[in-house]
Parts: sequence; structure tokens; C-alpha cells
Amino acid sequence: MLEKSDIAENAVECLHNEQYDSPYNQQNLNHEGMIFMGGRHPESLGGKWRFTLDLHDTGLRQKWFQIEPFDHETCTNPYDYDPHSGEEITVPSCWQMEREKWFYFEGSAWYTRDLDYQPEQDNENVFLRIGAANYDCKIFLNHQFIGNHYGGSTPFFADFTGKLRTGRNLLMICVNNARTEDRIPMRNNDWFNYGGIHREIELVRTPKDYIKDLFIYLVPNGQFNTVRADITTIGEVSEVELAIEELGIRTRLPVIDGNASTELTVSPKLWSPEAPILYDIEVQIPGGDKVTDRVGFREIRVDGTTILLNGQPVYLRGINCHEDDEKLGRLTNEFDIRRRFAHAKELNCNYMRLAHYPHHEMAAQIADEMGIMLWEEIPVYWSIAFHNPQTRRDGKNQMLELIKRGRNRASVIIWSVGNENADTDERLDFMTDLVKATRSADPTRLVTAACLVNHAKMKIEDRLADYLDVIGLNEYYGWYEEDFNDLIVLGKNSAPTKPVVISETGAEGMLGSNAPKKGAFSETYMADVYRKQTEFLPNLDYIKGFTPWILYDFRAERRQNPYQNGYNCKGLIGADKQTRKSAFYVLRDFYAKLAQQSLSDN
Ligand code: GCU
Repeated sequence: MLEKSDIAENAVECLHNEQYDSPYNQQNLNHEGMIFMGGRHPESLGGKWRFTLDLHDTGLRQKWFQIEPFDHETCTNPYDYDPHSGEEITVPSCWQMEREKWFYFEGSAWYTRDLDYQPEQDNENVFLRIGAANYDCKIFLNHQFIGNHYGGSTPFFADFTGKLRTGRNLLMICVNNARTEDRIPMRNNDWFNYGGIHREIELVRTPKDYIKDLFIYLVPNGQFNTVRADITTIGEVSEVELAIEELGIRTRLPVIDGNASTELTVSPKLWSPEAPILYDIEVQIPGGDKVTDRVGFREIRVDGTTILLNGQPVYLRGINCHEDDEKLGRLTNEFDIRRRFAHAKELNCNYMRLAHYPHHEMAAQIADEMGIMLWEEIPVYWSIAFHNPQTRRDGKNQMLELIKRGRNRASVIIWSVGNENADTDERLDFMTDLVKATRSADPTRLVTAACLVNHAKMKIEDRLADYLDVIGLNEYYGWYEEDFNDLIVLGKNSAPTKPVVISETGAEGMLGSNAPKKGAFSETYMADVYRKQTEFLPNLDYIKGFTPWILYDFRAERRQNPYQNGYNCKGLIGADKQTRKSAFYVLRDFYAKLAQQSLSDN
């Protein structure tokens, strides 16, 4: 025990203070600290890190981050963990997938590595960037607490400038994935609670004066002839140069109080799934920091119950997808993402819902290239502590981090603020505030939420719909709502004045020899639900999108019947991401017809 050593100060402090973590729960690493990454060359800190689980938060109680290297042979102080030696883990990863003994662990875990730092230019800034760590991440450098981030799927930065020693530094990170009442998502959800640093961790250097943000987009004025750029700089910057070579643009902009904006009259070739045209963008401080991006210009808006892409009506032929892999967990890669989009294209999809949390930023970059529109969301899912101001701060920050990370991506057409939340006053207050923050950060995209059917009235009715551009609707007629005819009643009772996108529907269908041949959990039953849904829904002209649940079977602890065995099996393809179920072909043929129809309509 460390009680007697000066590290833990005293026994009371170490064993009896249940407020041990409050100095480190500051959520001070948030969207305000984000730095534009396009064209930068970060240095990976991935690879082998020392690692231990810490079920009782002994590390924070005993302040393991203050332990200097010591010789085990001559040490006289008893100790409970030595961060300078012991087990290792590969980063990025989900600890559950690295060792069987870590599979169901939920709580704190410690990552430690030595970090050799050599300055490259005078007065450089140095930041630690973590692509995502689920859920609560506390960072310690050279025995000092640096900062804390909440949220399991969005990037964040810690400023190491002036805190790194030339040569050896000690970097320790505590990640806690416990499901608690104040978090987003809360304690109950239908996906596996992977934990850890599950996306890239890297060092980012910038000159003293640098470009902090770039937001460039086609102004949604229905003319398709105005590109706006909003640029934020840090340091003593008087002007920046913006270049879009293929549009004949190279212009210098004055920087006032760190900001530069311009609206350019140009007529770019418009981005669409059929023609995913991207333009190379450069922004540079003359003689200094330079960032780049590859951006598609398009306009998405609604008119009555119609969704318009570049002024043309569009029907969203979609499919849902989790970021889940039977071997890698939440960790993904370019191959996995391209395969997902290739399967969507095979289904004749033009759009995907990336459920239920921000996916890896590569997804939107690749969707830009492949021509797939995206619905992206934060996990304000099922029951949330809507009354809790900390939860509201966390939710808003996750949404702003998602938006700042991806608002130059043409493929992203929709931000979603929630999924299947009960229509209560507290939820309405929380959500309208979140919608306002979303629109203020990005006035160019549609805002939606996946709402529940109002079963009491058998209607599409949710008070939040008044604040949305598109009404997402999760309906499982034929599965959770056995009587499929109720969907027909719902259709008759509803008269929404905005576009409705079916954001979820589907049924479970098992693969394999022990799968039932008919009835619930059989492939035939699942295909039959798809047939009924795709035959009926086109009768409702306010429905402008269809997003069945889901592309692949995925891990879900709460699913333990003998067929599911810890998986949700509503996938059109099995968890092997290869074996297609009968319903796959029902949806593919339905979308082929819709695609053909939209070609003849336009
Ligand atoms: C819900 C929920 C999903 C869940 C699905 C199901 O609508 O949004 O996260 O996996 O239904 O029950 O399969």
C-alpha cells in the first residue's frame, strides 16, 4: 500500500476521500481546443504502451502518475502498481479485444509510455491529439495533470507547448468507460461498450502562428454560385491566402482579431452521389503555416416534404451501420470503411446513417470520394439525464466536436441530435438547445432526430419535430410491433409537413445450421418484413428516405437468447461482413427500382 509514502500524502487522502477524482473531471479538453488537421503531418504515438486495468480507481487515489522510475530490488516503499513496467497493449485498440481477461471490463485503465521530444523549430506549438477515447480521458505529462475529455467518439487536443522536456518525457493516460447516469449515452444501450484509446493518438506541431480552423462551403442560397470560407488563426497574423486552383481562385484575405472570411462568386461543379467532384483547397499564412483540404460543393435543403440536393428532389436510399467488428471491436480502418460503403453501393444505396455515435473521420472522407451521403449523430440515446447541466454541456460539446471535425465534408448532409428519446418536457428543453447550438455551428446542413412513433395516437407526432428539418422515425412494424397493419393505420393518421426519413426498421434473421427455418429469428421471416415494408412505404409521399436497421450483425451484450449469443442479428449481412441474408436482396432490388425511377423522373 502507498499510504505511508509521500506520493499518497496520507492514508485518509488515499483510502477515504471519495472525491478523489473531482480535481480531474474538468472537461477542459473540448471543441474549443480543436485544431484543423487538413494537410498536417502528425507524428504517431501508436504502438506498444504499458497498460493496466484499475477497477477501484486506485491510480487516481494513489496518484500513480506521480511515481518516478524506481529499482524494484532496492525499493523499500510497498507499491500497488509500477507504471514503468508490466503488461502492454497495442494503441489504438479496444482493450476488450486485446485479451480475453479484459473482455467485459468497464472502469478505469491506465496507459503509459515514455515520449522522446526533440524541438524542430523555434517557438513551435506541440499538441497531443487523440482521435477518440471511450469515454472519460485524463491526461498526465511528467507527473502533472494536463486535462480531461468526456465523450467516446470525437477528437480532442491537449496543449503540450512549453510542458515537454527535450529528451525523455512520461505520458500517462487514464481512460474510464464505465456506463454512468450522467454520460451520453447513459447506462443502457444496444451496442457493446468498448473501452480505450480506439483511434489514432499523435503529436501535432504548428508554428507559433497557425491556422486553427477552416470552414468552406457552398452558400445554401439556391443559386449554387457562392463559396464562403471562414478562417480562424492563432498568433500575430495579418493576412492569409486562400487558393482553389481549379476555380481560378488565389486571394489574400485580411485577418482581423484572428478571423478572416470571404464569399467568392464562383460556379463549381456540384458534388452529388452520381458525381462526387472534389476541389483542392489551400489556406496559408504567407511564409508560414499551411493547411489543405479536398472539398465538394453541394446544397442540401428541404422544401415542404421534399429533400432537395442541388435543387433536385432526392430520396435517401439508405442503410444503418455501427462501427463494430467481431475481431477489432470499435477499431476500424480504411479497408473496413471502404468495404462498408461497397456493400451499401451493392444495395443501390445513395446514403448511410452512421449510428449511434460519431464514426472515424475517414468514413466521411471516403464517402466524399465514393459519393455516399451521410447522416451523422451523437449518442443522445434512449434515457439521458436531460435535467443535468453537466450532461447538457457534455452533449453540446460532443456535437460541436463532431461538427468542427466534419463540416467540410460534402457527404455529410444531416446532423442528428438524438435517438428514441421519450417526448418529455426536459428532453424537449435539452434538445431544442442542442438543435440551436448545431445550427449555429453549421447553418448548411439538415438537423434531425430519430423519433419514436406516438403509439398512443398511432401517429407520427413528436414535439421536437417542430425544431427539425427532417423527421427521423424508428418503426419496427412486423417485428417489435407485430401487427403490420398498424403501419397502414399510422400512415393514414399522420400528415407531417416536413420530410420523414424512416431511420430504423427491420427484424432479426439468423444465419447458420441452428437457425430457425421459419418464424421470428428466421431469415425468411426477416425477408418477409422487408418485403412488406418496401411494398407499403412508397404509398406515403411524405416519406423521403428509408434506412433499415442494419448492414451487419453487431455485438450487443444485452442480446443473449440462444440464437443471438451476445449479438444483434438484424444485419443484412452476418458479423463476418460477407454472408448476405435473403433480406439483402429484397432491399437491393427495391432500391434498384427506386434508383431507376429517380433517373427517369429527373
Ligand atoms: C432501436 C435502437 C437500436 C437497436 C434497435 C434494435 O431502435 O435505436 O440501437 O439496436 O432498435 O432493437 O435492434
